[in-house]
Amino acid sequence: MNNGNLIIKNANELVTCSGFKAKVGKEMSELGIIPNGAIVIEDGIIKAVGTTEDILKDHDINNYRVIDASNKAVLPGFVDSHTHFVFGGYRAEEFSWRLRGDSYMEIMERGGGIINSVRATRQASKEELFNAGKKRLDSMLSFGVTTVEGKSGYGLDCATEIKQLEVMDEINKAHPIDVVKTFMGAHAVPIEYKGRADEFIQLIIDEMLPTISEKKLAEFCDIFCEKNVFSVEQSRKLLSKAKEFGLKLKLHADEIVQLGGAELAAELGAVSADHLLQSSDCGIEDMAKAGVVATLLPVTAFSLKEHYARGRYMIDQGCAVALATDLNPGSCFSESIPLMIALATLYMKLTPEEAVTAITINGAAAVDRADQIGSLDVGKKGDVVILEFPSYKFMPYHVGVNTVEKVVKNGVLVFDKEMRN
Ligand code: NIG
Ligand code: FE
Repeated sequence: MNNGNLIIKNANELVTCSGFKAKVGKEMSELGIIPNGAIVIEDGIIKAVGTTEDILKDHDINNYRVIDASNKAVLPGFVDSHTHFVFGGYRAEEFSWRLRGDSYMEIMERGGGIINSVRATRQASKEELFNAGKKRLDSMLSFGVTTVEGKSGYGLDCATEIKQLEVMDEINKAHPIDVVKTFMGAHAVPIEYKGRADEFIQLIIDEMLPTISEKKLAEFCDIFCEKNVFSVEQSRKLLSKAKEFGLKLKLHADEIVQLGGAELAAELGAVSADHLLQSSDCGIEDMAKAGVVATLLPVTAFSLKEHYARGRYMIDQGCAVALATDLNPGSCFSESIPLMIALATLYMKLTPEEAVTAITINGAAAVDRADQIGSLDVGKKGDVVILEFPSYKFMPYHVGVNTVEKVVKNGVLVFDKEMRN
């Protein structure tokens, strides 16, 4: 019996999320559910999907490890398409300042915020970053995440940016979760370049991008396009160069101030634009037309006590919406998928079906992997989540509580809540 050869049978709902590209607008409601479903995984790849009756007719159960999912819902592994999970130090103190009324940007402007984490990340050894990052992925796995995007951006110098990306490579090898790497050297202006953001962008273009691209250290490039951080012009300049270097694009856009980040994402053909709390109607229309995935991060809005991004409106305008946690040491120290689903459904007005699409096939599209993961389709990776409840509808309904019982990665059982007890 090979590792990665598995049949999951008798699923009350086999929620396939079937598709090989982002789902837009109304398509986000289509979950492709097979009642009493089963799935066959061989050598880590999905080989067949159907009703349990049909699957058992065609396959000899003795050749596989078998999981009985009676009374349970079975879904594709979740894709957390926006995180900053490798960082040194913590900023609990800043959180209590925010509770007292200081804003995120005020703290940043007086030298705290991202720069605080930069100091700690520069000082941290690779081993320290590896151990902390790997532990964070253990927690994500227990929430059903099988692929995670991770950003650099707590180095802001060439050596530390590379250190963060190399640590992600090592964690990728050592952990069941797949890591997709994003270079975010333009996360903030470092102290050495205070007041000289243009020069810092030039440094990234001249020194960091060539090294990152030559060593193939990242697949995406991201920037914090925000008032008092990097302007639309600076963002356009850096991202256009990054594209020339073969990197795909992401943007932290319109998070605090409506700068036109959504419009820029559409103009540049970014794979995703993220946050989007303040995006204009035009920006949303542009993203829908250009096929930019709108990645919404409700736990960040919650933690910052900001208004939520207009998820309902974006879907109604024909956007592809993805949901992600944004786990980071500042604005959102949470990898909680249950909290994310609760906020997305209760406050952004996504339906349970749309929320599921947003963390499966659309999460996959946000990391440009909709052809490999994000749905239970033949040929995709055998990444599967089994809930302890009979329907995906329990995910928003069991508010803020983890409903995941088992997680399968490449056909291998890698998390089982029952074994933990
Ligand atoms: O996505 N907004 C910028 N970047 C992160 C926060 C990073 C931090 O505060 O450390 C975000 O919210
Ligand atoms: Fe972020």
